[in-house]
Amino acid sequence: MTNKIVQTACNAANGVMDWVNQRAPGMMPAYRKHMTEYYAPKNFNIWYIFGVLSMVALVNQIVTGIFLTMHFKPSAAEAFGSVEYIMRDVDWGWLIRYMHSTGASLFFIVIYLHMFRGLMYGSYKKPRELVWLLGMVIYLVLMAEAFMGYVLPWGQMSYWGAKVIISLFGAIPVIGTGLTEWIMGDFNPGDATLNRFFALHVIALPLVLLLLVVLHIFALHEVGSNNPDGVEIKKGPKGNRWSEKAPADGIPFHPYYTVKDTFYVACFLIIAAFIIFFAPTFGGWFLEHDNFTEANPLVTPAHIKPVWYFTPYYAMLRVIPSFFGIKLWGVLVMFGAIVMLFLVPWLDKSPVKSYRYRGALSWGMLLMFAVSFLWLAKIGAGPGTDPVEAIIGRVLTFLYFAFFITMPVWSKLDKTKPVPERVTMHD
Ligand code: HEM
Repeated sequence: MTNKIVQTACNAANGVMDWVNQRAPGMMPAYRKHMTEYYAPKNFNIWYIFGVLSMVALVNQIVTGIFLTMHFKPSAAEAFGSVEYIMRDVDWGWLIRYMHSTGASLFFIVIYLHMFRGLMYGSYKKPRELVWLLGMVIYLVLMAEAFMGYVLPWGQMSYWGAKVIISLFGAIPVIGTGLTEWIMGDFNPGDATLNRFFALHVIALPLVLLLLVVLHIFALHEVGSNNPDGVEIKKGPKGNRWSEKAPADGIPFHPYYTVKDTFYVACFLIIAAFIIFFAPTFGGWFLEHDNFTEANPLVTPAHIKPVWYFTPYYAMLRVIPSFFGIKLWGVLVMFGAIVMLFLVPWLDKSPVKSYRYRGALSWGMLLMFAVSFLWLAKIGAGPGTDPVEAIIGRVLTFLYFAFFITMPVWSKLDKTKPVPERVTMHD
């Protein structure tokens, strides 16, 4: 009896597949190319789960965002109240809101680890420059998306954060003031600002993000994934258990990586649930205390600062003094810090990809970069009143830039180890 039911269900599924295949013959080959028969290197380690986790985080933001939009009111008069209403009166509203607000921070944690993996294994090097560049554009759009999202609840930090960040454009000579007013649609953040940020946050930027992620994956699948050894499996011997033409060191994405990723996604969701249930604001790091007070243009918060994922750049902005009365330097340094990341594929002149086969010099520089980024994040999250901290901040900004600007030199000078011909397996 059970066998018969299974048999009928399989026949019905095959029937539907045949029907679709006859009408869209290109769909199945594309599915095979990008999913079941995508041959990924067999030596992926835990650093390779952050791409998939980024996708999970993106889907979580979109789904919870849709439910928030059903109750949110995008007007300066009602926004704060509507968020309070979601938190107190809407069934499960508090959970949806925290999944979204805490989810944003978790998204950035995952993205930063994903980017660091790229740096560590030289995944930006030829032939994956485009994958990296598309990733960097995603990062930029993601920052704009997060910034606009933070303005929507119209708390004190939403308002004052928007004012400070949008006013940065005012430092641009000649067009600065006009540009600031154009972005805000007013002389101060107000109804017009909130409305346009809402439109951009809920529809325009998510669409752009989704498109970019698809391009990112397509670009990756054209050239194939890198791996912790930085060995090109496509250039190695051919033929494995599944296909004569596939790389010998590649295994099909399904079921091998779908199963592995499912396990890690479950672990991630457990950790995420723990934070969402027990520490959703994470002591003011994920949602600042000031944002639980409604925006008031007449009362400036004691310390205006962005959420942690922006603080390294914000610290750079704050510690760079204005020279000759020009305020633009801090802004230029802040944007320059992101530009540096775009240029990495061309700055790195090392003959090997992965840091596994690089020497102490490269490791030292990477460590210096990571420490300066994290320390700047801490400084940017503080009140910014300590003059000694400002000097430390300048030194760290210098070290951050030194990592990139001197990269063509140290990456060439560094003593590399011999790279194996085939990928290696570590337990
Ligand atoms: C919404 C954001 C993002 C999503 C959903 C995403 C997704 C993915 C996925 C699924 C992979 C393949 C699996 C893996 O290698 O982990 C991948 C690879 C990659 N991503 Fe992303 N990514 C995002 C953002 C970024 C950013 C911001 C960067 C860096 C600037 C980046 C750089 C890369 C690189 C270089 C690879 C190839 C890694 C390799 O083959 O070693 N991605 N991404």
